[in-house]
Formats: sequence, structure tokens, C-alpha cells
Amino acid sequence: MNKFNVNPVGTALLLCFWLSSYCFGQPLLSSQARFHPVISQTGMVVSQEIIASRVGADILAKGGNAIDAAVATGFALAVTLPRAGNLGGGGFMMVHLAEENKTIAIDYREMAPAEAYKDMFLDSEGEVDSKKARFSIQSSGVPGTVAGLVYAQETYGKLSLKEVIKPAINLARNGIPVSVSLAESLASRSERLQSDPGSKEYFFKANGNGYAPGDLLRQRDLAASLRRIAADGAAGFYKGKTADLIVAQMERSGGLITETDLNNYRVIERAPVCGDYRSNRICAMPPPSSGGIHLVQMLNILERWDLQTLGHNSADYIHRLVESMRRAYADRSLYLGDPEFFPVPMAQLIDKKYAATLAQQIDLDHASRSEDVHPGLSDNGESTETTHFSTWDQWGNLVSNTYTLNFSYGSGISVAGAGFLLNNEMDDFSAKPGSPNGYGLVGGIANSIQPGKRPLSSMTPTIVFDSSGAPILATGSPGGSTIITVVMQIILNVLEFDMGIAEATAAARIHHQWLPDTVYYESGISTDTMGLLREMGHIVNAKPGRLGATESIQSNTNGVLFGAADPRRHGSGAVSQP
Ligand code: DON
Repeated sequence: MNKFNVNPVGTALLLCFWLSSYCFGQPLLSSQARFHPVISQTGMVVSQEIIASRVGADILAKGGNAIDAAVATGFALAVTLPRAGNLGGGGFMMVHLAEENKTIAIDYREMAPAEAYKDMFLDSEGEVDSKKARFSIQSSGVPGTVAGLVYAQETYGKLSLKEVIKPAINLARNGIPVSVSLAESLASRSERLQSDPGSKEYFFKANGNGYAPGDLLRQRDLAASLRRIAADGAAGFYKGKTADLIVAQMERSGGLITETDLNNYRVIERAPVCGDYRSNRICAMPPPSSGGIHLVQMLNILERWDLQTLGHNSADYIHRLVESMRRAYADRSLYLGDPEFFPVPMAQLIDKKYAATLAQQIDLDHASRSEDVHPGLSDNGESTETTHFSTWDQWGNLVSNTYTLNFSYGSGISVAGAGFLLNNEMDDFSAKPGSPNGYGLVGGIANSIQPGKRPLSSMTPTIVFDSSGAPILATGSPGGSTIITVVMQIILNVLEFDMGIAEATAAARIHHQWLPDTVYYESGISTDTMGLLREMGHIVNAKPGRLGATESIQSNTNGVLFGAADPRRHGSGAVSQP
């Protein structure tokens, strides 16, 4: 018997279990499975609200594909997550079609109404009236969500539009149990929502009291609006009764959206922005989102260093992330806007040679000052809420979709009689060069307000492929300006640090956006690390915050799916196809 009375065979077996990759060549628990993702051999839906995830998973079980599931989830979120799910907003959908081996980007971003003009949010002193830009009826762009979801379903879905909208209609008509998260978020926006008669009626009890967790929230006008879409497709929203209700709301309160604007709304199918990061291919949303370009640009810079050796969230690693972010966001301020109105120098921004030039400017031991970093191409002149969901089907089709009203509950104004909130996406334009928008982002002429133009976005629905070209990850996030950097950290966590999607999602994040010159960080990054960053000269935000809320699906080489809903927002859920 040895001194400590330890069974040597048992100990060896236990050690073998922990170090199984060394003992057996194969880990017993693959990295993808760590940290409790939801696992599926068939299909999956991950969204910020679990009832909506279940709706999507049920559509997969009925033989629907990933696009049917995404559209069903999108309409369901308009009922169950009114702060961000929507009919009155807009967004972007990345779709990968397995059979054609093709990836497309569907742009259903809001458009500025024909009567919008460059200085429409400036006051008599020439300063930005942020209340008007964010909370007035004029803050709404022409909604794109219904056109986008209907287009995706009719072009790429397998089931009928009626079948995929039906669950949302039932949820709106029969009511949903109010979750803790919904009760809390409605209470936090009570003042703004109650100041609009429509929102007061839709989201508060008749006596003005808020809903408590467990109460039933019925949305009959919303159910009727959804029924009109089920019956007539996009025309059931952009024409007829819903269109009349939108225009009547505009006329009552000085809004700009007309019947012609609604008729002129167009979905645009675009080629995604793709780039190679080591042996992987990353495809994401092109302009009018800035997400894809800057994601690829930052990864191009970071690829030059051995990040694994630096170590996840070490000071040296974070320093490189921050310096790459600083330069990408400086470029965003000058070069990015709606490509139909401004010649975005996309090829140059995602060129590896340009990344090399930017990397050379980075001092590996000292922080730069944002005031010294300028948009770099040489030859060219409050709580917020968006929501992401990912779907994946048994045939290998997948969808990565981010859509939004911009702020939580958008402008706070509902279309009376139609049961849905209007976006305040016009604040994503640059109302005045150099004046920050609601996310502190600055811009100029590339993103100025013009009729028919789409405001620049940061939404970054993304699909990652392995070296054989097979999709391995669908991800995306809300978080305004932080979306691009959050998505990038998910990708790095998976590709560089071999984290499974649940671990990659939970890991602490950082963010920098050039201006303000501040490193934002989450709890979980050590005080020691933040101290080292300060020593390098970084300005560090006083307190940790929360960055993004990713809803992702990862696949391994055997086609097993691993889903992770972000634990930062409660109520989210990954649901496997039943
Ligand atoms: O398109 C954009 O970049 C913003 N309207 C997104 C807003 C957002 O993510 C708010 N969510 N937390």
C-alpha cells in the first residue's frame, strides 16, 4: 500500500479521462461539447427568446428547411420579443444553400423616406436634436422586415408562407405568458412607451399598470397584421389596410413615410463579403452594413500574429485586438455608407496588403491615441436592442439573421390599429459630420441622410467555413457598434482557442471603436490584465459592462450541431429539432 492509500489503477484511469486526448488520441469530450451546448443530429434554432426558438424548431420538424425556420422564428420574435423582434424594423439575413453550395446576403435594411433630407435632425443652432433623431416619428425609416422575411421564404423556403406565419399569429391572438425578461424590459421603458397611445394600449394593462411575469399578453391588432401578411405576402403589409394605418399614423404626427415610400421598398440580394482567416473562410454582411468589411479587415490584421501563444484575453492579445479595432472603426467613419449612394472602397479595405500597412503602424508595447489614428486609405479622399438568430437544417442549409428596431422598442411609437412598433433607424445615419449617434459612432458624407438611402449598420450576421468549404459556424449579435467586435471574438475563440460554441459565447469580451478612445470590457477579464493594458497606455472604461448577446450554431465534421444561446440575456434558448 502506498503512503497516501491511493489506488494507482484508478488514479491512472481518472487522469486518462481528464487527459484523454493524450491517452487515446481522441478527446472523450470534444471541445465543441464543453460548457453544455444544446446538441442535435438533425436541425436547430437559437434565438434570444425560447418560445420563438421552439416555433422555428417545430417548423424544421414539419419538413421546413433552415429558411422556413428562420422566417417562422423572425415572425414569432415580433410577438414574443417586442423590444427587438419586429415588423416595423429591418435587418440582414445570410443564407447558405447546401445543394448549390452558395452563400447569399439578403439586405432588408430600412430606407430613408423620399422626403428625408440631410439636415433634418439639426436644430436652429445647427446642432443634432438627438430626441428628434431617436424618439420622434421622423426617426423611422421605411420598414424592411416584412419584405425581407417574405422574400427569403418565397425564394428559398420549402413550406408555404401561411404555414410559417401561423405560429406567430396564434401567439399574438392567444397570448404569450409574460416572461421575467419581458416584464422587466417593458417596465424599464414604461415612460417612453406610455407617452404613445398605441404603445400604451399594446404593452400595458387598461389601467396603465405594467404586466407582471406570468400574465398573459394578447396582441390582437398584431395578429390581424400578421394575418394580412399570411394572406397577401408583402402586399399585405406595404399595401392595403396595414399600409393605410402606417400612413395615417404618419399624417397624424408629422412623419415622413408615404404610400409611395411603402410601395417603393425593395429587398436587395447581395454577394456576401468574404475573406480568408488562416485556413478558414469568413462570409458576412456587405454594405450597407459595415460589419462584414471590418470583420475581415480586423482578422486580416490579427492573422499576422501568433495569437494562441499570446493566450486568450492576455494583455498582449487584447492590445492587438484593440489596436486593430481602433483602425477599422476609424475607417468606418469615412468610407462606409449605402453602396447605392457612395462608392465604398471595399476591395481596398479587405486587402491583405492594406492590413499589413495597418499592422506595421501598431506598436506592440504601447497603445496609440485615437486622435493620432485617422482613416487610413491613402488614395481616397442608452440600453439598446437588436436581436440575432441562427437556424440549421438536416440538409446542411443554414441562416444567420440579425434584425432590429435600433433602440429597445425602436422609436417607442406604435402604428395604432396595426399593433407593431416603428424603428428609429434614421439615427444610424450621420446627422452631422463628427456628431456621435446613439452608439457614439461618428460619420460623414458617406453616411449622410438622403432620400431612399439605407443607414449604415454594424449588424454582422456571419457564416464561417472550414478549409474544405463546409460551414462550421453561424453567429451574430445585437449591441450596436459593439456587434462587429463581439462577432470577431466568437470567431477567434472558436478558431484560435479551440473553444466549443458554449464556452466561446460565455468568455469575457472587450470592445474598442476608435472614438471614444476607451477600452470597454466585461467582468471576467482580470484586474491584473487591465492593469497591464493601462501600463501600455490604454484608456480603460471605469466599470465592466456587458457586450453583445450572440446566438450561434456550430457544426463538427460529422455534422453534429452544437447550439449556444448567450447567457447574458435571460429568456434566450437553443432548441433542437424535435
Ligand atoms: O444597425 C445597427 O448597427 C444598429 N441599428 C443596431 C442596433 C443594435 O444592435 C441595438 N442592440 N443592442
